[in-house]
Amino acid sequence: MASVPSLASSVDQRVAAALLSALPEAGAADPLLRRSDRADFQANGILALAKKAKANPRELATTVVEGLDKGGVIEEIEVSGPGFLNITVADRAIVETLAARAADERLGVPVNPAAGTTVIDYAQPNVAKEMHVGHLRSAVIGAAMVEILEFTGETVVRRHHIGDWGTQFGMLIQYLIEHPHELDHEAAEESVAESGEQAMSNLNRLYKASRALFDADEEFKTRARARVVELQAGDEQTLAMWQRFVDESKIYFYSVFDKLDMDIQDADIVGESGYNDMLVETCRLLEESGVAVRSEGALCVFFDEYKGPDGKPTPLIVQKSDGGFGYAATDLSAIRDRVGNLKANSLVYVVDARQSLHFKMVFETARRAGWLNEDVHAHQLAFGTVLGADGKPFKTREGETVRLVDLLDEAVDRATAVVREKADKVGLTEQEIVENGRFVGIGAVKYADLSTSASRDYKFDLDQMVSLNGDTSVYLQYAYARIRSIQRRLPGVAAKAHPELALAPAERALGLHLDSFGEVVADAAAEYAPHKLAAYLYQLASHLTAFYDQCPVLQAESAELQENRLFLIDLTARTLSKGMSLLGIRTPEKL
Ligand code: ARG
Repeated sequence: MASVPSLASSVDQRVAAALLSALPEAGAADPLLRRSDRADFQANGILALAKKAKANPRELATTVVEGLDKGGVIEEIEVSGPGFLNITVADRAIVETLAARAADERLGVPVNPAAGTTVIDYAQPNVAKEMHVGHLRSAVIGAAMVEILEFTGETVVRRHHIGDWGTQFGMLIQYLIEHPHELDHEAAEESVAESGEQAMSNLNRLYKASRALFDADEEFKTRARARVVELQAGDEQTLAMWQRFVDESKIYFYSVFDKLDMDIQDADIVGESGYNDMLVETCRLLEESGVAVRSEGALCVFFDEYKGPDGKPTPLIVQKSDGGFGYAATDLSAIRDRVGNLKANSLVYVVDARQSLHFKMVFETARRAGWLNEDVHAHQLAFGTVLGADGKPFKTREGETVRLVDLLDEAVDRATAVVREKADKVGLTEQEIVENGRFVGIGAVKYADLSTSASRDYKFDLDQMVSLNGDTSVYLQYAYARIRSIQRRLPGVAAKAHPELALAPAERALGLHLDSFGEVVADAAAEYAPHKLAAYLYQLASHLTAFYDQCPVLQAESAELQENRLFLIDLTARTLSKGMSLLGIRTPEKL
């Protein structure tokens, strides 16, 4: 594990040092180094500093250039315009830095020295309910954040806060008690090995039947309400029935996560019910500290800034006037658990933006109660809505929520067709076609979700998602497979760095982009922004395309050139594959 400083950071340090000795009174100032079209980098920070020190910016820039230690890294540095610095790094420094990356399993990406513990709340479907595209977003974005954070050295605790508690269970359980064979596998003509699909259809049938009875029959309604009280009081028979719903739902959840090529562990599923024992205490603490007050019998937290349409303050209701606890009490208890027992420094919630008000209120309440503070912060990684082709929230033609499984199956079907078209040329077996179809189809769905900033809505457009051109996962997967295919065609030729060679412009551009991988990962982690990593990978593939146009590998002009180019594309393949795996997307060797 050897972390490799990027060229950008070496240049930055050198310029900053020269700046400090040219203008000591400015202290350690940021030279504001950026990638640039004019040279490799441009430093823009001198202008503002000179202005502040009432110095001439061009003169200051010139002094910086004169005092700079180039250290074999900087090939050329010149003052331009009113006082910018244009900086070109040495070809040798690029290849040597990349060689150091290639020698490291982590590609030279450093571990964050300030890493702590993050509890991330994601992939939280609801028991006895079908999963929809909203659950897809939480699962996909959350899983990517887990990988990205772990790669930076963060300790990550996963929490799947499934909806497994609440009044609807009174209705479901009561129905099951009155119709005891409805969840029997024999009743559904099922043998022992039950599929997720079958589990969901059982649950759906029960849900519909109990709902119908609940709406039609006042006496059943009363019995169902009493059943909720039994459940919350921990009555054994009631709990056993409830557990059957949870178990049946888990069969279904696991089948969907499996389709999504996602690993979910049972121990990380801690649903709303998991905090049941804490609810009374949470309310007591809030009431005793005065954070929450009784209002019309309910326990409420008030905020000046959140008002309803009538101008009256909208409180967060922690306990209802009938004594029942809701979503807020559970989330507040979960915060106490995650901070107190799991010792989190950061709490991240990958949840639909439409729940933002809830989380603002919950976080503010926790702050007032002292459970969140400067050392422990909470963040909602809020995501936007998935839209249909018509730009409206995604629905079936009949106006129903689209089943996630149907979408995934269709994505895999389409992707398999795309893979099959090229299969002969690449020499894929039927088994490889099927496997790649899954990787491409599921990758396409994940990438579409991850490649725009999470907070934005996006259109679910399968045609676009599996397209070979443009910003899609398939494009990236092909870029990877193409490298592997070139390598297979040059057996026995080493991928060897040759720092003595001069680099072509496309090689430099590819090399400098490869060198910035670690910084992008760090940004994506710090800002909870997986789309930054997706954008980086797309640019990487684009640099690779430009490189192929200008720098032949198979027909390279000399043996050294060929080895050096193989070295460059091998590191590109490894970076692509690592980056994609952080996003939860596979990179097949042959495509
Ligand atoms: N189950 C909820 C839903 O489907 C999401 C849960 C989000 N997490 C939380 N801690 N409230 O909308």
